[in-house]
Amino acid sequence: MSIQTSNHKRSERKAHLPFGEKREGRLYGKPILSVLQFSRDDLEEIFMVAEEMRMMVERVGTFDLLKGKVLACLFYEPSTRTSSSFIAAIERLGGSAIPINEVRYSSVTKGESLPDTVRTLEAYADVIVLRHPETGAAATAAKYLRKPIINAGDGTGEHPTQALLDLFTIREELGRIDGLTVTMLGDLKYGRTVHSLARLLALYNAKLNYVAPDLLRMPPKIIEELKQRGISQTEHKALDDVLGATDVLYVTRVQKERFENPDEYESVKNAYTITPDTMTRAKEQMVLMHPLPRVTEIAIEVDDDPRAAYFRQMEYGLYVRMALLAMVLGKA
Ligand code: CP
Repeated sequence: MSIQTSNHKRSERKAHLPFGEKREGRLYGKPILSVLQFSRDDLEEIFMVAEEMRMMVERVGTFDLLKGKVLACLFYEPSTRTSSSFIAAIERLGGSAIPINEVRYSSVTKGESLPDTVRTLEAYADVIVLRHPETGAAATAAKYLRKPIINAGDGTGEHPTQALLDLFTIREELGRIDGLTVTMLGDLKYGRTVHSLARLLALYNAKLNYVAPDLLRMPPKIIEELKQRGISQTEHKALDDVLGATDVLYVTRVQKERFENPDEYESVKNAYTITPDTMTRAKEQMVLMHPLPRVTEIAIEVDDDPRAAYFRQMEYGLYVRMALLAMVLGKA
């Protein structure tokens, strides 16, 4: 079959919707690959829908907005929050999930390629969520699919849905994003969450501070990209240089699994630890965030500080991912 014939049949299929099916919206049918695809209007719409999801979960728990829809959750790397929150999201919306959290038990171990694996799942599911160790893997997979795919982390590249929930957290906790000073701390080189978050914050005129050891500095490509967009950015080695002026302190884990040289990891693994003493030097209204999992970079004694938002942040992720699923499937 020629490609033209195949595409023609696909568009015919899309044109015939089941009776009563309403499909619209700016994210409908689109892959979510990078935060660079979002405008500020997109973000406001996502946050508005996420607020509605929060209200509905608090009021009724589960409801049938996506009844009959199937999500395939394909994870080539470990995950607790992203995989389980996507599965919880589809199930709270009345749909169901195919969870493949251990690709070693799938046909990937027989040598099946990523394009073949995602095309298989597309036959069974309406939307695919993919985490993969290679930067650009979700974008590659999207080329083989006619249904939406959501990037749940591609190597050291991006983690767009994490950045969306991070921004939603800031908005919920502080009531605004514009004009805030956000300090990112830790592994800014390999930490994909900070790559995505810095790019999204550029839409809000935030001031960005990067605090990291030399080995783990924010990639020059991202600094240059944001410089071109007129964003104020500074780099530091000591947190105390900027702590007192920080509205949001975003702490990251040193990503042990990304280091080629174990000695390098050993030299930076304990570069920073947030303790109750650190918090005494921070603003009273500061928000302390972390995408989690944490290892040693935030002491557990900090968890009871009302500024520690990282467990609330995880919960906001459920509402944002419910919103995204409803929007890409044309139901929000
Ligand atoms: N924040 C985050 O991506 O967590 P998981 O690796 O547990 O999904």
